[in-house]
Amino acid sequence: MGTLARVKILVIGSGGREHAIIRRLSSDAPAPDLHAAPGNPGIADLATCHEAVTTLDLDAQVELAEQIRPDLVIIGPEAPLVEGSADRLREAGFTVFGPSAAAAVLEGSKTWAKEIMAAASVPTAASVTVTEVEELEAGLDRVNPRGEVPYVVKADGLAAGKGVVVTTDREAALTHGRAVVLAGGSVVLEEFLDGPEVSLFCVSDGSRVVPLAPAQDFKRALDEDAGPNTGGMGAYSPLPWAPQDLSEQVVRTVAQPTIDEMAARGIPFVGILYCGLALTSQGLRVVEFNARFGDPETQVVLERLASPLAPLLLAAARGDLQQVPAPHWHDKAAVTVVVAASGYPALVRLGDEIGGLEQARQLGAHVIHAGTARRDDGALVSSGGRVLSVVGTGPDLSVARARATAGAQAIALDGCHHRGDIARDAAEAQQAVASPSDAEAAATEGKAGA
Ligand code: AMP
Ligand code: GLY
Repeated sequence: MGTLARVKILVIGSGGREHAIIRRLSSDAPAPDLHAAPGNPGIADLATCHEAVTTLDLDAQVELAEQIRPDLVIIGPEAPLVEGSADRLREAGFTVFGPSAAAAVLEGSKTWAKEIMAAASVPTAASVTVTEVEELEAGLDRVNPRGEVPYVVKADGLAAGKGVVVTTDREAALTHGRAVVLAGGSVVLEEFLDGPEVSLFCVSDGSRVVPLAPAQDFKRALDEDAGPNTGGMGAYSPLPWAPQDLSEQVVRTVAQPTIDEMAARGIPFVGILYCGLALTSQGLRVVEFNARFGDPETQVVLERLASPLAPLLLAAARGDLQQVPAPHWHDKAAVTVVVAASGYPALVRLGDEIGGLEQARQLGAHVIHAGTARRDDGALVSSGGRVLSVVGTGPDLSVARARATAGAQAIALDGCHHRGDIARDAAEAQQAVASPSDAEAAATEGKAGA
């Protein structure tokens, strides 16, 4: 590839994360030639969408790549990774950012992830895996002997963030566990982790690790962290309350040991190692690993990335992160508020018309499409539980949050809902707190916690 050639990039996926990745790639200079499969109506403004090539149709993905010959393929969602999309595309000779099916098991199986963490001495919640209904009671007693803290019950496989129940109600914990076991799955019962949560995306080339900026995600459906777990209802970055050396700590104690352990087992991990962490009173603990960018955290993290994205991901995909300088960051804040369809995260109503996008833009936000489609008559309609991810940026979290919230309120969609408290506590703390030592105190007290 000559220095003047535009890099051609194919992004697999159709959600908010992929729209955010493409938005950021489109502002690299020179802008890459961008393709998406299948993409979505928001992505269509920035890239050529190959709508017929769906996220799980691996044959069609290889066929498309052979036709358009991208320099890089980025696989957005976990499902194609776990199915082996990266393997198929690599076998066909393409450069791919995203782990092999074998490495994506780090997200695909919580039990397996626990085994890797134990082998690599990575701090995480104590857990037991249970495959029989009769073992549930004893399992809960083992991880939560006094029953004084909430029970944490997780389906072992992929569940789009919805397979986890955290509850003080022992009966509800048992009911969820039974449902998973009776459906043929295994259940991971975990020690409860207190303290605020942080998502840190670590780019890896199989041996090296480069952290992006930390973000915080809001997992529960309703304000004040009420309601069920979701895929994520909003996010913000930076985290003014977090320790200054958080990323460095996570790389040293979590990401690098994990990447080393994977490499030692002959399963190198190339892509994003998403470290979901709790900053507990006992120190930093891994809540979960994912094998890809998080959604909606990507919408805020990439908004703050000042250095180009394509060379970073390309270097990782080629196995040589040393080729690129460390990423640098805009000194601005970004907040995203997810607008969800009626009923989300339970049974959602789809196909409703969406309006107000232009108004949201006029209020200073930008709108990322997460679950949208074009009807035959051209109208924009809802096609997923999380419909839009409205993003605000500004010099601090208060301004960014005001823009994102005003934008979300401007969206017209029957029965839709969004949280009103995304980044609220952190924005208030940022206003109140001036010195780094106070910021650390706020973090330990969990004032800005998820
Ligand atoms: P996961 O899919 O494992 O990330 O879990 C989804 C969400 O459930 C997390 O983001 C946490 O908010 C919560 N959660 C998961 N595991 C724990 C735990 N051990 N202690 C407390 N909360 C947890
Ligand atoms: N926002 C959580 C996730 O992407 O898994």
